[in-house]
Parts: sequence; C-alpha cells; structure tokens
Amino acid sequence: MIIPFNRPYLSGNEILYIQEVIASGKIASNGNYTVKCERFFEERYGFKRALLTTSCTTALEMAALLMDIKPGDEIIVPSYTYVSTANVFEKLGGKIVFADACAEFPNLDPDKLEKLITPNTKAIVPMHYAGVSCDMARIMEIAHKYNLLVLEDAAMALDNTYQMQFIGSIGHFATFSFHETKNISCGEGGMLVINDLKYVERAEIIRDKGTNRRQFIRDKLERYEWVDLGGSYAPNEITAACLFAQVEKLNFIQKQRLTIWNAYSNEFKSIKNDLIEIPKIPNYSKSNGHAFFVICKSKIVRNSLIEYMAKKGICLQFHYQALHKSKFYLDRNETTTLPNAEHFSDCLVRFPCFTSLGIGDVKYICDEVRKFLNVFGK
Ligand SMILES: Cc1ncc(COP(=O)(O)O)c(C=O)c1O
Repeated sequence: MIIPFNRPYLSGNEILYIQEVIASGKIASNGNYTVKCERFFEERYGFKRALLTTSCTTALEMAALLMDIKPGDEIIVPSYTYVSTANVFEKLGGKIVFADACAEFPNLDPDKLEKLITPNTKAIVPMHYAGVSCDMARIMEIAHKYNLLVLEDAAMALDNTYQMQFIGSIGHFATFSFHETKNISCGEGGMLVINDLKYVERAEIIRDKGTNRRQFIRDKLERYEWVDLGGSYAPNEITAACLFAQVEKLNFIQKQRLTIWNAYSNEFKSIKNDLIEIPKIPNYSKSNGHAFFVICKSKIVRNSLIEYMAKKGICLQFHYQALHKSKFYLDRNETTTLPNAEHFSDCLVRFPCFTSLGIGDVKYICDEVRKFLNVFGK
C-alpha cells in the first residue's frame, strides 16, 4: 500500500465549469467565477474585500506594495515560515527582522515581539502555522501601540478562527493559498484580503499591472493608463472556475479533513512515548484539518521515522527550514540563534492529511508509528 503525503481533492464539477468558461469566450481575469469566489469568501468570513490572485506569493507581493515598503523599512517575519513570507519584502529593499516561534507551537511568539520593534519597523507578518491561529489579540495590541501594519499569512488557514473571529479578518491584510496542497485548490492560486477599505482602489490597480483598467471598465472612462506600480496578479477564469467547484464543497471538505485530523489526534493519545511530542493547540484556536504533525525528540529520530515510514509506503514530510539559517539570509546577514524555530525546523514531521484519506489509512499509519517507536534505539 502506498499512501502519498497529499492527493488534491476534486469535487467533480471542475471540468464542467471550465468548459462553460471556455465556451463563453471570456477566459481572462475578473469574470463571473472570480467574482463568485470573492463574494463567497467576503460573506462567509466577513472580509472587507477579497481579491483572487495567482498564488499566495503574489498576494503577499501585492500586500508589500500596498504597504509601501521602502529600502530600510523593517518587517517582523517569523523565521519558521515559507520563503515567500520574507522574500516579497526583501525584493522591495525591506529589512527582514526574524522572530522566534513559541516553544510549544510553531507560531510567532508575541512575548518576543516588542523587543524587535525599532523606529524603522513598518509591519508584523504573523503566519498561522498548519492553519492554527497566532495570538492575534496580543499581536494587534502591539501593532496598535507602535502604529504598525499587520499582514496575516494565512496560506494554510482557510475556514478557521481566532476565538470567535475568522482568521484573515483581523489584520489590515491577509493572504491565502489555493496551491494543490491546501484544503481547497485550483493547482496554483491565492487570495489577498483587505480589511481596511482605504487600500482597495490601489489594490485593484496593483493587481491589474499598475493600470486603472478596473475603473475604466466600471466607470466607462475614455481609456485606461499606467498609474502605479503593479503586476499581473489576477488569475484567469479557468483557474477561478476550478476553484469555485471546490468552494461549493467547502463544508464537505472541512468535515472530512477534520474527521481525519481527529482520528490522528485520538490515535496519538495512545502513542505515549518520549521520542515524540504532540503539539498543544492554543485554546484560542483549533485545527482546520489542514495538517497533522508531531515534534520528534531530535533530528535523528525525525529522519529515521520518515525513512522507516517511506519503506512502508507512507510518505511523511518535514517542513520549513528556519529562514535565518538559509543560504540567502546568511550570505547577507550575521548568524543569529532562534532556538524554537530551529527546533521545529529539525524535529517537526507532517503526516498525510488530505480529503480522500480513509480512517483505515490513519489507523495503518499510526500502527506503523507504534512499531517504529518500539524498535527505534533498541
Ligand atoms: C506560510 C506560507 N506562505 C506562503 C506560501 C506560498 O503559497 P503559494 O504556493 O500559493 O504561493 C506558502 C506555501 O505553502 C506557505 O506555507
């Protein structure tokens, strides 16, 4: 039996909606399916404005442009995150200030935030690891105190909450990913959320290559022109149609994924062993069924577990390299130590968690983990 790490879910309506788009002859951006997806997310999650993008990375790029990041501006980014969270600011000449993770969970530690703030700090970018919320009340309080912008990197955090508020509706901006590894996907795709309406007009310009083409279409201007910085950040309608076929099934997908996540969680309650630790989800959030992971006692245990499971046909994956240890960063900066980020980088391992995974598969995977723990080190 082979159990992959991920298998993208297909609702069955993707082809139908894509055919409809192709038949309509309107396959470029900003058509019906784009609008249907955007309205859905705005209504379901209370986002002030949602703009589909070609990826979470390009949504982050748009946010960085909207924040007007200039050389010398400092942006506080967790070290334990994907490269895009930092890269988009670096491209604009921003200075990345890496923050450590909490000891018990890979999200940014708000206790260590304030000492990173200087007069040059412009923004904080909390990333909600595995879809579980950062401590947003603490982060927003600090941001207000120092007049900083907050961009939630919610790449993995669709359909989840911080206390009673939806993730992505709290910061000034938020970004989501619809890459094939995410809960809903269109292959490659993303979304920028804007919760302060004063940024919306400029965001539409930035998404449309720096032109006022949207205004030209809406207000029937005589022509449109180059008015700002921008890029080609809007997905085509084929992509949006594919995404909408999944949006329609979001409740089903979430139910399935949470059933799988809970099955892992229950199994691991009986896998008590000091070689692995089950992460404690903070009480202000919960899982959204995006990822199930554990923390091994050491890198050797983690890598041996991955190797053992691979021999059994089960694909486990580690996750981010702590970015302050990356070649790109070290070529330009002094070495620093962020112990929690480094620990997660070395010891975290993710298990297969996707919509079509069976409960029997979860049992099989966990039985193999038990066998590994029985023999490891003996
Ligand atoms: C935290 C985080 N941010 C951003 C991204 C980039 O997402 P995308 O592949 O949609 O550009 C990822 C990718 O998985 C991610 O994990």
